[in-house]
Amino acid sequence: MYIHEDIEKVLISEDELAAKVGELAEKISADYKDCEVLVVTLLKGGVMFSVDLMRKLTVPVEIDFMNVSSYGSSSKTSGVVKIDKDLDKPIAGKHVLLVEDIIDSGLTLNYVKEILLSREPASLKICTILDKPSRRKTHVDVDYTGFEIPDEFVVGYGLDYAQKHRNLPYVGILKRSVYENE
Ligand code: IMP
Ligand code: MG
Repeated sequence: MYIHEDIEKVLISEDELAAKVGELAEKISADYKDCEVLVVTLLKGGVMFSVDLMRKLTVPVEIDFMNVSSYGSSSKTSGVVKIDKDLDKPIAGKHVLLVEDIIDSGLTLNYVKEILLSREPASLKICTILDKPSRRKTHVDVDYTGFEIPDEFVVGYGLDYAQKHRNLPYVGILKRSVYENE
C-alpha cells in the first residue's frame, strides 16, 4: 500500500503549510508576548499542526490534550459532544489557546468552547489550520485561521478518513473511489 495513491489532488503543499504555520506562530507569539500559553490540542486531528506550531512559538508553553466525540453519525454532527479524554489539569486563570485541525459546521468547537469557558480560564482563543466557512451551522469566533478551503473532503496533516491518511505531510483531496468502494 502506498498512501499517496488515494489522493486526487494536493490542495495545500507541505511548503505552504510550513510557511503558514510560521506566520501564525509569529502572530501568536506577539499577541501573547507577556504571558504563558496553555496550548490545548484537540485529538487526534489537531496533533500535526499543533506540534509544528508549538515548536515555532517564542513564548513559554504548557501543553494538554482533549479528545471529544460527537453523538450521532459522523456525517451528521449533532453538536452534543462527549468528552473521551479530558484535560489533565484545571485551566482556571490560564491563557488557553485551543488548537483544531478544521472547523466545519462549528458545532463541535462551540461546545468545547463552552466547556472550557465554564472552567474560567484567564482567556480562551481558537486556532485552526483549516476552515470550511461555507459549511458553518453556527457562528464561531476564530482567532487564528491558516487556510479557508472549499467544501471538499480533505485528508492529511492530521485529518483522516476512517482513521487513515493522517500522516500525509500535505492536505489533499481524497479520491472518490476510496469511499465509493467501501
Ligand atoms: P464540526 O465543525 O463540528 O462540523 O466538526 C469538525 C470536525 O469534523 C473536525 O475536527 C474533523 O474531525 C471533522 N472534519 C470536518 N471536515 C473534514 C474533512 O474535510 N476531512 C476530515 N475531517 C473533517
Ligand atoms: Mg477532529
